[in-house]
Order: sequence, then C-alpha cells, then structure tokens
Amino acid sequence: MSVQHNEMNTTDLAIMREKINKQLEALILRLKAPKILIEAMAYSLSAGGKRIRPILLLTTLEAFGKKMDKGLNVACAIELLHTYSLIHDDLPAMDDDDFRRGKPTNHKVFGEANAILAGDALLTYSFELISSIDEPHVTNEMKIELIQRLAKAAGAEGMVGGQTEDLIAENDPSLTVEKLENIHYNKTGKLIIYSIAAGAILAGATEEQLTQLEQFGYHLGIAFQIKDDILDVEGDSKKMGKPVGSDQLNEKSTYPALLTMEGAKRKLTDHLQHSLRYLEKAKINHDKLKQLALYSINREN
Ligand code: IPE
Ligand code: IPE
Ligand code: MG
Ligand code: MG
Ligand code: MG
Repeated sequence: MSVQHNEMNTTDLAIMREKINKQLEALILRLKAPKILIEAMAYSLSAGGKRIRPILLLTTLEAFGKKMDKGLNVACAIELLHTYSLIHDDLPAMDDDDFRRGKPTNHKVFGEANAILAGDALLTYSFELISSIDEPHVTNEMKIELIQRLAKAAGAEGMVGGQTEDLIAENDPSLTVEKLENIHYNKTGKLIIYSIAAGAILAGATEEQLTQLEQFGYHLGIAFQIKDDILDVEGDSKKMGKPVGSDQLNEKSTYPALLTMEGAKRKLTDHLQHSLRYLEKAKINHDKLKQLALYSINREN
C-alpha cells in the first residue's frame, strides 16, 4: 500500500473534533465537585489537543459502516484518560514541562496537588463514563470488555508501566531498539490500539478483523511516538504547543537519540508501511483510517 496518499480531509477532522469537544464540555459541566477541581480538569481538556485517539475510534466505527455517535462516549472516555496521562507526564517529578497544548501546564496554573487530583479525577471519570453508557446497542458485556481493555491498556501492563520504563531508561547506555520499541508500545501504543479496538468492538467486528486492526494499531502507535520523539528535536514549539528539546534535557531514550534522526525517520516509515498492510487485511472501508494514519505521522504538532 502506498504511503504517498492524500491526508485526512480537514473538514472531516474538524467535524469530529467539534463533536468530541462539545461532548467533553457537557461531561465536565455536569460534574458536582469542588470548583478548583472542575476548573483544573476543564483547563487541560479544553486546551486544544488533536483528539487523535477519539477520532481513531469514530473513524473505525465509520469504516464498518456504523454511525459515529454510537462511539462518542467511549471516545470521550479515552480523551479524558489521555489528558490525565499528559497532566501527570508534565509534573516536575516526571518530565517537568511548563507548556502543553499551547498553554502553561496544569501544575503551573493550579499547583502540583491540584494537577495530580485533576488527573486522578479524569482517569476515574473515564471508567464511570463507559460503565454508565445507556444505549441499546451497547450491551453490558460490551461495556465490561471495553472497561477491562481500557484498564489494561492504561495501567501497570500498559501506559503507566510504559511511563515507568521510560523513567528507568533515562540515560541508559544498554538500551536496544527492541527495548525502546517495547517502551513506546506500552506508554503510547496500547492506548492507540485500544482506540481502534474499541471502535471495532462497538461495530461488532469479527475476531479476525479485530486481530488485524490491533496490528494496524500496534505499528501506528509506535510510529506515532517516534514522530513525537522527532518533533521534540526538530519541531516548532509554537505549532506544537509544547517545548522542543525536553527529551534531551531529561536524557530520555528516544528513537533519534538511539538511531540518529535519519534512522528514526526510516523506522517511522517502516512502521507506517506495516500498519497500512494490516489495515488492508481487515477488509473494511479503510480509506479514512489510512488518511488518518498518514495525518498522524505527517503532523507538525
Ligand atoms: C502526546 O500525545 C503524548 C504522546 C503519547 C505521544 P498527542 O500528540 O496526542 O497530544 P495531544 O492530545 O494532541 O495534546
Ligand atoms: C508521553 O510521552 C507518553 C504519555 C503516556 C503521556 P512524552 O513524554 O514523550 O509525551 P510529550 O512529548 O510530553 O507529549
Ligand atoms: Mg514523558
Ligand atoms: Mg513528556
Ligand atoms: Mg515527547
């Protein structure tokens, strides 16, 4: 499958972002909680993330010929959880970053304690949201599977485990590409895979389709984090809304640091091509998912 293809139609992206943003806003407004907590949660959520993960879910549903709205709450649950992971990732004890999504980081505005608590609340809210979906096409069995998979993708065997490995790997001279791929898989890949798998589950995919789509997500997830590593070196911090050079400052193990920039870019293309091969095998209407994959690795922010 060629990687020289048109990227995602910007109108499609804008429509999905609008849907997601509106729903996220409504979800925060309905909370009865201390004002400072709600403000801190809303601050990071409304700061203008790309919404790639929820958009992946909605686009997967569409690829199966299903209505996107069926997946809106699960899509928002993923974005709540992802936003928590970013708030905690930026904390002084973690990457110690001052800007995110074009604004000062959560702890810079609300203080560390409130930033930690806002993250905790976003994380738990995501599970509450999936468990309380009240729509006829989402069975209790589906909800349990969606919750269990999200917990696994985000917890010790997923994102949190990957974030721990990421800290351990700082300035590690014995790091190999295999080990780094595994860190990227856990800290970033698993939530990306979940976003696609959740769309497939809601659409009633076959086991075979789910397996191919998970492989698509595996390679897309690695490619996505390689791109993040590359942008941290040669991106434009204004466009990205977060600082460049943070990884080098923290002696992070990244693809450009391990393989040179050229090697990192080669790996990025390899993983993208692999991802697209699996996508074709899923036998769905995959054009928009392909465009979205290309958008996520050609992005400038
Ligand atoms: C940044 O994720 C952190 C990673 C896991 C690479 P995104 O690049 O999706 O950040 P937002 O959500 O658009 O801000
Ligand atoms: C973060 O990776 C991955 C998460 C799970 C949050 P990074 O630390 O590279 O993400 P950025 O560059 O700060 O967005
Ligand atoms: Mg980090
Ligand atoms: Mg970081
Ligand atoms: Mg980064």
